[in-house]
Amino acid sequence: MSDDLKPRVKPAMSRRMFFHGSAMVLGGAFLAMPATAATQACRLTKSDILGPYYRFGAPFRTQLAGPDEPGDRLILSGTVYSSDCRTPLPGALIEVWQANHAGLYDTDKPGNFTEATTFRLRGLLLTNEHGKYEIETILPGRYPIPPGLPGLEKYAGLTRPAHIHIRIMDSLHVPLTTQLYFKGDPFIANDPWARRKRSLAIALKQEGKRRSGVFDIVLAKGL
Ligand SMILES: [Fe+2]
Repeated sequence: MSDDLKPRVKPAMSRRMFFHGSAMVLGGAFLAMPATAATQACRLTKSDILGPYYRFGAPFRTQLAGPDEPGDRLILSGTVYSSDCRTPLPGALIEVWQANHAGLYDTDKPGNFTEATTFRLRGLLLTNEHGKYEIETILPGRYPIPPGLPGLEKYAGLTRPAHIHIRIMDSLHVPLTTQLYFKGDPFIANDPWARRKRSLAIALKQEGKRRSGVFDIVLAKGL
């Protein structure tokens, strides 16, 4: 295993250390690989948990990370399809939220959907007439699961692979909540969620100073 792919986060001893000492940047951990899962085989996109850091009320925007946001720039794009993997869904509502480059969300209070926040690295957007979306953001940092989360006590301290949370809604399809991961992330193997859903891991390409990745989404028809 190359140095780039070796785990670099040690278990932390305190809540403060969880959030400020152990989080890390992805750096050059991920290699460029072709294609996306949804275009290779027609399967519904797998769901995943909402996670403890969802907040209701994020603003509409496609630029999640402003120019001053630290981290490796990432252009994330894709198409939302119906269950045939061919029919694009215009006007689908997408909500995205993620940690910053150091693995920190804009709140450190898990499980409070309505806490007032500045909504950093969160946003809502709509797919265009071709079912496509694109956001500008940064690569999220990894973070350890904090202690004391009801139902997740046994995972406290486990470093989650880097991920971006996504919710997708369309009027005639089943809403989907999921997370996307990044191929080559060594923390996927031990993650209780990502390890069973390898199709949610996308490849990244280097384009100048930016990375880019494609995450196509296939929703189940609701009738
Ligand atoms: Fe998360």
